[in-house]
Amino acid sequence: MTLTPEQVAPQTGRFLDRMEQEELAIVRRAYAKHVLANANVDDARVEAAFAAVRREHFLGPGPWQMPRWTRPYVPTPTDDPVYLYQDALVGIIQERGLNNGQPSLHAMLIAAAAPRPGDHVVHIGAGVGYYSAILAHMVGDTGQVTAIEFDGGLAERLAANFAGQPNLRALKGDGARIEFDPADVIYVNAGATRPADIWLDRLNDGGRLILPLTSDNGFGENPENIPIQWRGAVFGIKRRGNELLAKWISAVAIFPCEGARDAASEGALAAAFEKGGWERVTRLYRRGDLPDEQCWLNAPDWALAYG
Ligand SMILES: C[S@@+](CC[C@H](N)C(=O)[O-])C[C@H]1O[C@@H](n2cnc3c(N)ncnc32)[C@H](O)[C@@H]1O
Repeated sequence: MTLTPEQVAPQTGRFLDRMEQEELAIVRRAYAKHVLANANVDDARVEAAFAAVRREHFLGPGPWQMPRWTRPYVPTPTDDPVYLYQDALVGIIQERGLNNGQPSLHAMLIAAAAPRPGDHVVHIGAGVGYYSAILAHMVGDTGQVTAIEFDGGLAERLAANFAGQPNLRALKGDGARIEFDPADVIYVNAGATRPADIWLDRLNDGGRLILPLTSDNGFGENPENIPIQWRGAVFGIKRRGNELLAKWISAVAIFPCEGARDAASEGALAAAFEKGGWERVTRLYRRGDLPDEQCWLNAPDWALAYG
């Protein structure tokens, strides 16, 4: 018997008959509603993307490992994909704490990035591609997603997951340095201490950069129980002509970004977290000579400022 793409979750090889597929589509619609409610986001296009994209296609064969409060990771009871439709992290490389991210966090960030049909989106730290697929769904056939992953094994899985999909190009490399075409959205999914030059250079006028900034406490064990607001912050950066408008979106703890971390910016970031006031930031500057009173974060060659 030949199986249609709808019957097989390709990377899991698990057979799903038509009835199971239809049930799963209903589960996915409910999941999308819960995810957007948890994100406090009302965005029909984001909801439709979460309802359409099959998470099981990307995460390899089940049972899947999910981090829980009680124990670091707990396996799902079986390989039934229904378990993936929770607002929860799923382990990708558990030994490194590398996970498929929290759906409601991504719903909030993707709504802020607002990818539109026809846009070029660059996704940095794509992992195995679940959120790249959500972005590809939103930009549609006339748009393009460039998905970049640093880890060689994950980059191979990313490319395999999108084989033959014309609106997505998977690249292995350092997303803080690799060349890419000018973008309407740059969606970074790893913790930097500073915006990489190429992210700002290649942002089109009107373009949106989603920028997670983390101190050295922004990932892993947190024995001192530092509140998440002091560990990391995601900013939305929007280019308007020569200006870079900046707005705090969310606190975050996230896997570090290779190639976009330096000690001077980390120091400035740690000091800024301690000081507070991130919600008043309105501008990103690519210079380091602004008066301290104007800045939330004042690094040697860039700043996040109040005006
Ligand atoms: C928190 S994981 C998220 C993976 C994916 N977005 C998901 O939610 O399934 C962060 C990913 O960023 C990747 N990464 C770190 N630095 C990177 C860089 N400079 N360029 C591209 N990918 C990077 C890591 O290898 C890891 O896969």
